[in-house]
Amino acid sequence: MTEDAAAGLFRERFGGEPDGLWRAPGRVNLIGEHTDYNDGYVLPFAIDRASRVAVGLRDDRRVRIASTFEGGDPVETTLDEIAERRFSGWSAYPFGVVWAFGEAGTDLAAVRGFDLAVDSDVPVGAGLSSSAAIEMATAVALNDLWAVGADRAALARIGRRAENVAVGAPTGIMDQAASVFGETDAAVFLDCRSLAVEQVPLGFTAAGLALLVVDTKVEHAHATGGYRDRREACERAAKELGVRALRDVAVEDLPGAEQRLDPVTFRRVKHIVTEDARVLESVAALKAHDTAAFGELMYASHASMRDDFEISVPELDTVVEVARARGAIGARMTGGGFGGSAIALLPADDADALADAVAAAFADRGYREPAAFRVTPAQGAGRLP
Ligand code: GLA
Repeated sequence: MTEDAAAGLFRERFGGEPDGLWRAPGRVNLIGEHTDYNDGYVLPFAIDRASRVAVGLRDDRRVRIASTFEGGDPVETTLDEIAERRFSGWSAYPFGVVWAFGEAGTDLAAVRGFDLAVDSDVPVGAGLSSSAAIEMATAVALNDLWAVGADRAALARIGRRAENVAVGAPTGIMDQAASVFGETDAAVFLDCRSLAVEQVPLGFTAAGLALLVVDTKVEHAHATGGYRDRREACERAAKELGVRALRDVAVEDLPGAEQRLDPVTFRRVKHIVTEDARVLESVAALKAHDTAAFGELMYASHASMRDDFEISVPELDTVVEVARARGAIGARMTGGGFGGSAIALLPADDADALADAVAAAFADRGYREPAAFRVTPAQGAGRLP
């Protein structure tokens, strides 16, 4: 614990030793985009970049938090203010989690306040769920320290609620679920309706493959704009089609849906319905060690997001185009879209050359310089020894 930046910040700002250290990772999504809030399927993995919190309980009702990325100055409040939902700025992530524990049944009048210091190496704004990492690190820590006893699905729901209500982003549950259910070298196959989880072994490293992330540096905000708009379109379409959620529309139902919906809404529905099918096919392909088939599904998913759901941007398309031209097994944008990152699956020996080729294509086209790095599937949220 001595070398940890979160523990160091805790000692510096709050004095004394924390009661413990917890971590929660960010995520990439392999396939299954915008399907989570449609009650569908997703296949993300927790990455080897995480948020770490050092937390110590207090004897009063005060709550103080400090972060290495916001200059370290503590933000201070009380459990009572949080219970009334009075918080804003980056502190809304941890405070929102406290509030969501309350909503989920923890008696905030009966628990102790705490000091929390957070550090993170999940890049912010890259679409790798840096916010979910903070939420879930806070959630696992408080679950332990307050002895709440919530299981991982309940913790994911608390994290999502914090994001939706405290931050105001109408997101689904994928990011928080990936962060708590992740396992080393496996993807998290999640049914977003039942929250049933199956870890699907990936074996990319053993097979000599790498998963390259390219952060386009194009900024996106899910609290506003396109993300919210797509979500509303999906909910409207489900109503028009008389189903609980688009999860309940089958690929065979699409011709009928086309008769009933306007062309734009139909394209949105088509993406969700075919994307759910691609997740199921991807799980089957990965279990059969058929990475080539999985790679084609990644490319098909990207095309669907570009043409039907219309959430890609030229920078993301460029990454996928260059990856395909250089023979990557598969590539697609990952996350909510309108910016953020794309991923490519390829032989590890080719990863640096692809990163260079993408950077060259970006320079040619006058785009901002991207950042490329590899990620591996890592263990989900928990307490550090
Ligand atoms: C963001 C949201 C997720 C999910 C993805 C799109 O990452 O936080 O809930 O909707 O976009 O798949």
